[in-house]
Amino acid sequence: MENLITLVNKLQRACTALGDHGEESALPTLWDALPSIAVVGGQSSGKSSVLESVVGKDFLPRGAGIVTRRPLVLQLHRIDEGKEYAEFMHQPRKRFTDFAAVRKEISDETDRETGRSSKVISTVPIHLSIYSPNVVNLTLIDLPGLTKVAVDGQPESIVQDIEAMVRSYIEKPNCIILAISPANQDLATSDAIKISREVDPRGERTFGVLTKIDLMDQGTNAVDILEGRSYKLQFPWIGVVNRSQADINKSVDMIAARRREREYFSSSPEYKHLSQRMGSEHLGKVLSKHLETVIKSRIPGLQSLISKTIADLEAELSRLGRPIATDTGGKLYMIMEICRTFDQIFKEHLDGTRAGGDK
Ligand code: GDP
Ligand code: NA
Ligand code: MG
Repeated sequence: MENLITLVNKLQRACTALGDHGEESALPTLWDALPSIAVVGGQSSGKSSVLESVVGKDFLPRGAGIVTRRPLVLQLHRIDEGKEYAEFMHQPRKRFTDFAAVRKEISDETDRETGRSSKVISTVPIHLSIYSPNVVNLTLIDLPGLTKVAVDGQPESIVQDIEAMVRSYIEKPNCIILAISPANQDLATSDAIKISREVDPRGERTFGVLTKIDLMDQGTNAVDILEGRSYKLQFPWIGVVNRSQADINKSVDMIAARRREREYFSSSPEYKHLSQRMGSEHLGKVLSKHLETVIKSRIPGLQSLISKTIADLEAELSRLGRPIATDTGGKLYMIMEICRTFDQIFKEHLDGTRAGGDK
């Protein structure tokens, strides 16, 4: 059976490919119902670094200020073999094998929507897929960092605009929140914890990630946080050590960085006992496993939504008339086919569950 996350990825892409036209059908509802993982936190808390570590590649624009100015929907697809590559939904036929070019395209595409001004943000997402033997199947959404004040000519509303954008993603009950807090700041001041607590007060869908553990003041450590005594979440906190700015300037590669991160936790007296559940690699695995569990638990609900989507699409197609020559008709048709495949797979899955099997 095809991996459930891969299937949900396909459905997500299909929904988005339809663009504006989706307004008329059940597709926006379907898109909202599909589980995904959103990364939230204050500016420079380490969000992009965490994403890159989970992917194991350098590909995100970085720098001071608001670098991420549009949501980035990042779908990771594990392939068995072959060279890794990336594809943007806005350039469907172009395969990127150079990840520096991916980074450039993310910033160019950001500018196309918002203009050159680094002061403007947009809620229109960029969709990027990465195919690699070194990733776990996962959908992650990178969001602009939360800020406290508008700077250098930014509109006063920017603080609220970013917050509203972040909230619009994480308030959905199907959204898994990856809340990033830097260990060198007091947890009580964490933007990530503040906003995720509002939408998920019991911490049932929030994963706490603590970055910059290596930058803590001498004589302090993060053990209370990592053991869940400072702020309790349903899932264990995960600590990471990303590359520092100096590492990035020296082009320390991701493999070396991961190795160093592992050594950091396993060799430090404070964290040794926790080292099995620390680090970016562990984080990636935990998230993938959790996403799959969530998708499985949502199958019955998704299935009825998909049936409704199929019915809506059929109605819309017959309204358009046959033969379908238009681009829209073609896309609707494609989505209906994917929905049907889903319907079939869900049925098989449910039959399997009823028969006592796991899949
Ligand atoms: P974002 O604005 O939240 O996306 O943050 P970035 O990922 O761009 O990180 C901001 C800065 O903090 C960069 O210079 C990173 O190199 C640095 N950084 C992030 N995480 C860590 C960490 O765990 N340790 C150290 N030493 N530096 C980090
Ligand atoms: Na930044
Ligand atoms: Mg960033």
